[in-house]
Amino acid sequence: MLNKVSNTPLSVDWLLDKFNQSRKYSTDLIRGLSAEDCQSQSMEDASPAKWHLAHVTWFYEVMVLKVLERNFQYWNPQFAVLFNSYYNGVGDKHPRSKRGLLTRPSLEEVLQWRKNIEDRINHLIKENTSSELQWLIQLGINHEQQHQELLLTDIQHLFFNNSLLPAYSSEAINIPLVINPFEWIDGISGLVEIGFQGEGFHFDNESPAHTSFNYPHVISNQLVSNAQWLLFLQDGAYQDPRWWLDAGWAWVQAERITAPLYWNVDDNKQYCQFSLNGNQPLNPLAPVSNISYFEADAFARWSQKNIPEFKGARLPTESEWEAFAKVKPDLASNLFGKVWQWTSSNYNPYPGYQPWGGVTGEYNGKFMVNQMVLRGSSAYTPKGHARVSYRNFFPTHARWQMTGLRLAKDGF
Ligand SMILES: [Fe+2]
Repeated sequence: MLNKVSNTPLSVDWLLDKFNQSRKYSTDLIRGLSAEDCQSQSMEDASPAKWHLAHVTWFYEVMVLKVLERNFQYWNPQFAVLFNSYYNGVGDKHPRSKRGLLTRPSLEEVLQWRKNIEDRINHLIKENTSSELQWLIQLGINHEQQHQELLLTDIQHLFFNNSLLPAYSSEAINIPLVINPFEWIDGISGLVEIGFQGEGFHFDNESPAHTSFNYPHVISNQLVSNAQWLLFLQDGAYQDPRWWLDAGWAWVQAERITAPLYWNVDDNKQYCQFSLNGNQPLNPLAPVSNISYFEADAFARWSQKNIPEFKGARLPTESEWEAFAKVKPDLASNLFGKVWQWTSSNYNPYPGYQPWGGVTGEYNGKFMVNQMVLRGSSAYTPKGHARVSYRNFFPTHARWQMTGLRLAKDGF
């Protein structure tokens, strides 16, 4: 039994529009890429663009058409294995680390398969207005949006590993600058309501809505900037175990971490940052990005002692972040659309949490260990995807997503 968003039927035209828009956006994202660009995989965490395009199509074929289409037939039953990500309830999977070796099917065939599945989903949406189908389509759209963001972050990582440091796009990626004067703002303390409320699509990990308790605290109206991170780096913090969690220090040493992922030094010894626009001089006013939880945590500890206004600083909890974002959205205009913000909260189920039923139950719940929650959204997050209750999550060492931080501190 699936959790349905609402028993109120959605407009068929609205759903068709959302579905077709989201499908088009995926293929728009590869317009400037070659078939070779779409083929390669830079590391196990990242997937080829072709695989992303295929996997989100697999999702509709296996999770929707196979269940609800009359006279269902696979485009190619072998794709059910090739493009299964992590759903054990669906069957076998091609190994994640070997997605870049899938030279067959070709990009051309994947695009043909996408078109076939799109036509069939369009037909199904028109003939089946059940809440089950409508919910599954919304899940498919939101799932594809998540992969659109991953497609961009994975291309960035792939291109960073090319000595030519190619640009994905010559258009400026819109990362608004940190420009407002820094300010600590009173957080929302006491009993606060957390989690998704109301109608509309949301992931199972955002519910149930529940009461949480926040101790008195203040939250920064700003994201930590590259200029502030440069102070951390130039003070030798990457070489100083005082600031690091034990596991973080082991990671820094083992991986020889000395800067955020995409920072590098050019021939003139100036710091640069690689982005989808190519390699560019580091912008001191931009929010720091592509840092791990370990780095965010170390920065907070270091900044307590080294940046006067950050005395007592720490990462916010996800409950502090959400309560603040709900009540004071205007006071921190950089909550969304810049960088995901690490919180100090473990990715745990909310009180009373139950995963969705069926194979979609594997979507979120089984990852609730050894990961930290991030809030907000990034410049690569598709428009309309994130919410104030949205919970992103990554392991403590991951940093190929656009991940940054804002600080909080106890305030009595
Ligand atoms: Fe997926």
